[in-house]
Amino acid sequence: MIVSSSYHMALSASSEFSDHPATGDTSQPVDPFSTRMVQAFINAMEAKSPYLRGHSQRVAAVAATIATELGLTDEAVEGVRLAGQLHDVGKIGVREAVLDKPGRLTAEEFAHVKEHVLIGLKILSPLTYLGPVLEYIAHHHERVDGSGYPSGLSGDALSLGGRILGAADALDALTSPRAYRHALSLEDALAFLASLGPRGICPVVLPAVQRVVHNGQVLVFLGDA
Ligand SMILES: [Fe+2]
Repeated sequence: MIVSSSYHMALSASSEFSDHPATGDTSQPVDPFSTRMVQAFINAMEAKSPYLRGHSQRVAAVAATIATELGLTDEAVEGVRLAGQLHDVGKIGVREAVLDKPGRLTAEEFAHVKEHVLIGLKILSPLTYLGPVLEYIAHHHERVDGSGYPSGLSGDALSLGGRILGAADALDALTSPRAYRHALSLEDALAFLASLGPRGICPVVLPAVQRVVHNGQVLVFLGDA
């Protein structure tokens, strides 16, 4: 994977939002403007909805835990974490009446919500140094059987980071309460997603998700959802 020094800057922003590389690589100067720009996008998203704030932080933490369990490099783990923080930034462009609707969405409303993926990519498109992070975000609602959106990609066309992000996103959604249903327990949410086969969690990612759930590694993030 080819990454630019600016990508390292973005990765450093993902964990501590500091001006110092989280990777410990001090060979490249860190551009505070780049790291602070990423933080500004996160702040804008959080201002839109308090729900998005907690959701994005939990998804980032769970996705990074899964990525670590899968043996990804530190750099890739931080890329997945950053993608988790930014994955729903496109919801800035979703009507609040739809975003905050307490009940189930109509077909038109659901179609509008689905637009958040492409809206987010458009918002983030000037930040080309994000590289693979943008791809992970693009894929977080795709599914390996082709049943996802926005492109209906399937199989190897889906990035591993996107598959991990999708698993973490689905777990957080099911373990969070909705107006029309109670929150599921972590175990019940995982059992439900596993029952969906490749329409739930990518089969390559699923064993790692099961291990981190069974080992209690994500309870700290999702247990109080
Ligand atoms: Fe999303």
